[in-house]
Amino acid sequence: MSGELLTADDVHVRFRTRGGVVHAVEGVSLAVKAGEVLAVVGESGSGKTVLTRRLMGLVAGGRDTEVSGTVTYDGTRLTDLSGKALSAFWGAEIALILQDPMTSLNPVKRIGVQLTESLLLHKMVATKQEARDRAVALLRDVGLSEPDRRVRQYPHELSGGMRQRVTIAIALSCSPRLLLADEPTTALDVTVQAQILDLLADLHRSSDMAMLLVTHDLRVVRSRSDRIAVMYAGKIVETAPTAALFAEPRMPYTEALMNAVPPVSGPNHVRLQVIPGRPPDLLNPPTGCKFSPRCPYAQDRCLTEDPPLRDAGSPVHQYRCWYPLGTPAWAEAKARNVERGASAAGTPVTEEMVLT
Ligand SMILES: Nc1ncnc2c1ncn2[C@@H]1O[C@H](COP(=O)(O)OP(=O)(O)O)[C@@H](O)[C@H]1O
Ligand SMILES: [Mg+2]
Repeated sequence: MSGELLTADDVHVRFRTRGGVVHAVEGVSLAVKAGEVLAVVGESGSGKTVLTRRLMGLVAGGRDTEVSGTVTYDGTRLTDLSGKALSAFWGAEIALILQDPMTSLNPVKRIGVQLTESLLLHKMVATKQEARDRAVALLRDVGLSEPDRRVRQYPHELSGGMRQRVTIAIALSCSPRLLLADEPTTALDVTVQAQILDLLADLHRSSDMAMLLVTHDLRVVRSRSDRIAVMYAGKIVETAPTAALFAEPRMPYTEALMNAVPPVSGPNHVRLQVIPGRPPDLLNPPTGCKFSPRCPYAQDRCLTEDPPLRDAGSPVHQYRCWYPLGTPAWAEAKARNVERGASAAGTPVTEEMVLT
């Protein structure tokens, strides 16, 4: 379809481990349109990294890994490709940045060498001198001071935030049309986090590059994404344009994620409210709705029947829930659980949890 740069259709990834089969990604479908920012949000262990790597072709089927579904990039089915045909897309079309910049930087090579290698490899420049000049310009673009000096430094001589700027410069060196950023700021301290996220937002605006921004923190994507896909236990449980998701969340897990973060404008001492219960065990996922053991509104049906994705009035807003927030069915479910002091799954219902 026009405008869609990357589409994933019913993507599954399962790992066979000694402890059993890990259902890491369970039937994810999504699309990233040219030039947009899609945020993928969920707690640790919800399958975000496995999904991102699968989108790029970095997770392939094998003895211990079972994959299915398709990923299509600008008309080419990446899931049919391997080897050189697949890696031709990396860097030039789709670039990836990771949580820990040290895993993508080579500790024994100077910054400048790592940047020029990438530029020469992808034939973005003709000569070494041109590559060096371009490397300095790229470091300047990502806001590094003294770029002439930085090109001669090694990764360990830079701070975490500066190193992440370098990996962004490398990712941008071949002008990709899609940037996959997997928790690019989680390893950084809070002020640096904001700077890096703002840098990505600026780069996205100035280059029209599409971005898939993966995070566990809904707060950071509120002003930095066009659409959000909320992931839980390997599935997308709600997806909507960012404003609609914040205005009218339907899935109780989305609400729980919102309540798990302090208000943006709130005082610094606001405590992080954690989501009650433990994230799902992907080795033994619960039957029915995967969130039901932690959901304050869960009813008997939620424990046995997994809800399908349904439209919330329009096809751009979809959710998985039998008792979507704000509906009469939900109000009844909530009243029932408050009356008996627990949800069907035994989750104690407290005033604090029922915030709406
Ligand atoms: N190679 C692997 N073998 C077995 N299990 C894996 C492998 N990679 C990831 N997993 C499991 O898949 C699940 C999803 O992991 P991940 O995508 O890293 O979550 P997230 O990025 O959302 O924190 C986790 O339970 C993780 O332990
Ligand atoms: Mg991850």
